[in-house]
Amino acid sequence: MATVRIGVVGVGTFGINHLRCFRQLGYTGTAQLVAACDINEELLAERGQEFEFAPYTDYREMLEKEQLDGITIVTPDPFHREVALAAAEAGVHILCEKPLDVTVAGCQEIIDACEKAGVLLMVDFHKRYDEYHLAMKQKIQAGDLGQIEYGYSHMEDRIEVPRDWFPDWARASSPAWFLGIHFYDLARFLLEANGKAVWATGRTDRLAELGVGGWDSISAKVLFDNGATVAFDTSWILPDGFPAIVNQGIRLVGTKGVLECDSQDRGTFTCCTDDQPGGQTHNKSFLRIRYDKQGREVWEGYGMTSIADFAYNVEVLLAGRSIADLGDYPSGYDGLEATKIAAAVHQSLESGELVSLPS
Ligand SMILES: NC(=O)c1ccc[n+]([C@@H]2O[C@H](COP(=O)([O-])OP(=O)(O)OC[C@H]3O[C@@H](n4cnc5c(N)ncnc54)[C@H](O)[C@@H]3O)[C@@H](O)[C@H]2O)c1
Repeated sequence: MATVRIGVVGVGTFGINHLRCFRQLGYTGTAQLVAACDINEELLAERGQEFEFAPYTDYREMLEKEQLDGITIVTPDPFHREVALAAAEAGVHILCEKPLDVTVAGCQEIIDACEKAGVLLMVDFHKRYDEYHLAMKQKIQAGDLGQIEYGYSHMEDRIEVPRDWFPDWARASSPAWFLGIHFYDLARFLLEANGKAVWATGRTDRLAELGVGGWDSISAKVLFDNGATVAFDTSWILPDGFPAIVNQGIRLVGTKGVLECDSQDRGTFTCCTDDQPGGQTHNKSFLRIRYDKQGREVWEGYGMTSIADFAYNVEVLLAGRSIADLGDYPSGYDGLEATKIAAAVHQSLESGELVSLPS
């Protein structure tokens, strides 16, 4: 099998996980982290000390010079589209962080460009790779729940995320775009249904007080086209003392059963130290580190599996198979359908009305 030549665009808070993933796929020759790009030169240089790659501040130049097989896009939400369109035009396969784009039209434009260029388009909806969610899916597919009637999910970040991680673009995003989108997609994946109508409410008090601005919390009720309704509560204002950076979970109720999954406290690891006297829970299913026999870092968990899946898919394509042969993966279409829900959530927030999704 050929080694997949990868470039990463955006090496910020989450971009480091893409760098880790492709560096370790290099241990086995599956992928090579060839290049990385960021407009923040200082950060790029810092990452360059930890990871080996050709550095670029312009992704177009990187696409032109490096003969990449694939790129991953880890720029802030509103800047995915321009990178994706340039990659498609260059004939390079794409893994895009969620959301694919913050507009329905933008998602469609990316999908069309990728189809025209014949390149793979994946969206990093990692919740589909969580072994707990996969087990839920198996039970649903086996018919154990009967007909799913309704459900509930929550995803909430500690306030440090909008306040300290990216105060400059938190206002351009929201709990629906940053967090809800994961669970809108997961609900679609589990229910095998698309969103049909949305009603949402939200609040803007806490982040306004801090001068960050934007939505504190958004609660949305989504009717799916199979008749099920799911309520999604999202926020990023949990206090600094909350015992995990993310709180999340989902439950679904059907005619024959109920499934509940607490994705935050997996009951595996609670840690209390002088630095964090309140005690912390850790979702080690998402990301965890170990060291191999050569003492090299190896990152594991569904946060890595979903990124690695892109390299494995491109490897198959380089071996001469077609995109249609790849089986199940979170596609551009999934990105579009999740964005339809998030966009409708925001429309409903603005209007106060029930919003029907475009078909
Ligand atoms: N899958 C997940 O679990 C997960 C978690 C966090 C963030 N994300 C997603 O990852 C993306 C990035 O989030 P983050 O938290 O890393 O943000 P961040 O602000 O920490 O990093 C974004 C980086 O992109 C760079 N950048 C911006 N415009 C660029 C351009 N035109 N060319 C090159 N680099 C550019 C910035 O300088 C910055 O370093 C977002 O879409 C976010 O929703 C996904």
